[in-house]
Amino acid sequence: MNRRILILAGATVALAGACMPQSATVQEESTYNLYQVFFWTAAVVAAIVYVMTTLAIIRFRRRRDQRDDELPTQTRENRPLEVAWTALPFLTVFVLFILTLFTLNTVDAMPPNPAATIDVTAFRWSWTFVYPGKGVTITGATGQPPEMVVPAGQNLHIVLTSADVDHAFWIPKFLFKRDAIPGITNEFNFTIKQPGTYSGQCAEYCGLYHDEMTFTVRAVPPAEYQSWLVSQRAGASASPSPSALPSAAQPSPVTPKGTVGPTYTGAPSPAAASPVSPGPSSSPTAFSAPAGSQP
Ligand code: CUA
Repeated sequence: MNRRILILAGATVALAGACMPQSATVQEESTYNLYQVFFWTAAVVAAIVYVMTTLAIIRFRRRRDQRDDELPTQTRENRPLEVAWTALPFLTVFVLFILTLFTLNTVDAMPPNPAATIDVTAFRWSWTFVYPGKGVTITGATGQPPEMVVPAGQNLHIVLTSADVDHAFWIPKFLFKRDAIPGITNEFNFTIKQPGTYSGQCAEYCGLYHDEMTFTVRAVPPAEYQSWLVSQRAGASASPSPSALPSAAQPSPVTPKGTVGPTYTGAPSPAAASPVSPGPSSSPTAFSAPAGSQP
């Protein structure tokens, strides 16, 4: 019976360890490794605590033939034991702290000469991706998430900011999240290991359509990335579409001025032409829903 419980507990711990996601980027492999170290350290500490607690409960329980006021042997001071239980936790935390510092350095490192630089601006409630010097801008709208196309296997540089309120740039499979804050730029690099599509989302509650602030990152082979840039430029010069960049502080097209409730201030300028916009004449309580988001 006891053995079965032990096996079950061991299997659960092993499974939980294996369930941690691998990172899709080179830099965040160090984050993944750090997770593993923390997880197994915590598992060992938990095992020690549970085993010793259980032993103490069993060994020192009151027995049937004992009197109520009978105390177990009282001991005072045990230097070696006291030193051990102070030093061991301190050492454990210290080692974890040092490993965390190393991981932070790896994640925050910005190797020079990136293959692509992308300026990312978060706004309520979507994202703008500008490829400086390339003449390419991708802007999403609420309910229409934008896609960032990047070369796989190459050093990428992201310059992140926000046009209005705090947002956060989060790509779960990268094990990476960074705040997008108005007036501040956060910069970071990453290298995506394999071509593929990775979904991202805003991870800071930022208002009514926070949940619609999704995007995707599509990593393609470098040659394909170059031809994608060319096709984007051709498309942009052929028809300056509405998706060509709004300036910073660009409102979501579904945020019509004058239609917001009393708790919402700082509504951006009137939406130019959103098909779902009720327009300035609609009732003050009407929130327009992004396409397909509401029944
Ligand atoms: Cu932007 Cu939540």
